[in-house]
Amino acid sequence: MPEGYSLLQSILLSGAFLKNPVKSVSNSMHRFAGTYTAAIGFKRKLILTQDPAFIRHVLQENHKNYQKSPIATEAARYLGYGILFSNGAFWLQQRRLIQPAFHREKLQGLQAVIIETIKESIAKCPIGNAVDLYPFVHGLSFRMLLRSIFDVPLTPDIIAEIGQLFADIQEFLIKDTNQPVRRLWYPVTGEQRTTSRKAHRLRAIIGDIIHQRKSSGESTGDLLDMLLHSTYEDTGERMAEEQIIDEVLILIFAGHETTANTLSWLLYLLANNPPALKQLQSSLIDTSVQDALTNECLKATISEAMRLYPAAWMTERVAIEADRFGPYSFPGGTIIIPFFFGLHRDEQIWENASVFDPERFMPGGKATRSKNYFPFGAGPRMCVGNHFAMTEMCFFVHAFLTEFEIQSTGHTPAMKALITLRPDQVILHSKRKVSNKGSL
Ligand code: HEM
Repeated sequence: MPEGYSLLQSILLSGAFLKNPVKSVSNSMHRFAGTYTAAIGFKRKLILTQDPAFIRHVLQENHKNYQKSPIATEAARYLGYGILFSNGAFWLQQRRLIQPAFHREKLQGLQAVIIETIKESIAKCPIGNAVDLYPFVHGLSFRMLLRSIFDVPLTPDIIAEIGQLFADIQEFLIKDTNQPVRRLWYPVTGEQRTTSRKAHRLRAIIGDIIHQRKSSGESTGDLLDMLLHSTYEDTGERMAEEQIIDEVLILIFAGHETTANTLSWLLYLLANNPPALKQLQSSLIDTSVQDALTNECLKATISEAMRLYPAAWMTERVAIEADRFGPYSFPGGTIIIPFFFGLHRDEQIWENASVFDPERFMPGGKATRSKNYFPFGAGPRMCVGNHFAMTEMCFFVHAFLTEFEIQSTGHTPAMKALITLRPDQVILHSKRKVSNKGSL
């Protein structure tokens, strides 16, 4: 086992962790040179690591010995067993079924609805001397994803209700994971029952949309169509309706905040780095929104934002059998936490690690083929929606910067490390360009 904290030390540290998880883990990484243990019981330990070789060992090279830990699978009680929370043969079967929908050619069919959604929403973007752009970006990301899954008109009330139910369930899950002692009080507070009721309501809404689609007999080419029509390789059967609901919930859960947070951090970084903003703006002149997908400067800028602020700031796995890595050996059942945030800012790995420098991801740049960069994870469980997310983000940034000018207000967003790494407000000067013809 690596060096680390005893049970008593881990308990004492939990306060600092809850207050600021990223800072607390970063400090410990510094103290223990990039890998350490924390106790989660008399016998059970977590290993936290930002060592890229160790992370690759767990996620890629020896991935068969690792699965999602109870930290993640507990969420399945409320959000179902979609691919993010399932394991083993069932996960593989579902992944094989879902992955083709996210191939580049298939995504072309979704481009029009993504652009349409941006077009509708961008007209409502708040402008002013000090506006918090986070709620706008969050709402737009949610609508882009929802329309890609269900390309049918949903009433504003239903969209708002889905958003609220997700937010409530997510908030419960964060508290439940970070403060397990609260579970003792659930029979009294009724929080668990309330959350289960909300999860039921969410499933009922998704179920209704599926029934409407089935009874209409229409095929709109959205992600729901793909889930409804794909068949298992071995049996040729279609997915059961309850499983389709699980997978829809997972796509919304995994694809919503990740994109919203990345885009929000990106706007903050650009506003605070005028040369990078200027270079990106120049690369967009006289280009169409479709050109955004092949704009190297734009893709490099997004990649660099994900280096400094990886939406998935950490992940987790549990070892099935005992394993070794380098000098460490550990028993089956050990939970490993790859800490992507720390790795992406490690000064021994990244030159001027804290500097926002999109050049490093430009073709031929030092980071283009980095093995130490995991914004979308790695190995067979790497993000299934990564190309989709890049498509949404490229279109959004192109449309936004063509329409608006942004400037820093000097405000630095605090990092809220929840399930994803969220900026606590992105307060910028934002104004509409004077002679703008629009890109959409
Ligand atoms: C900037 C946006 C995004 C980021 C940074 C991101 C990041 C990640 C990461 C790091 C993982 C791997 C987690 C692990 O290994 O434990 C992951 C998995 C996943 N992502 Fe994303 N994601 C993004 C957008 C999306 C979108 C838009 C979708 C779907 C529409 C999506 C769907 C998923 C799913 C279903 C998984 C689970 C894959 C599996 O376990 O087989 N993600 N994502």
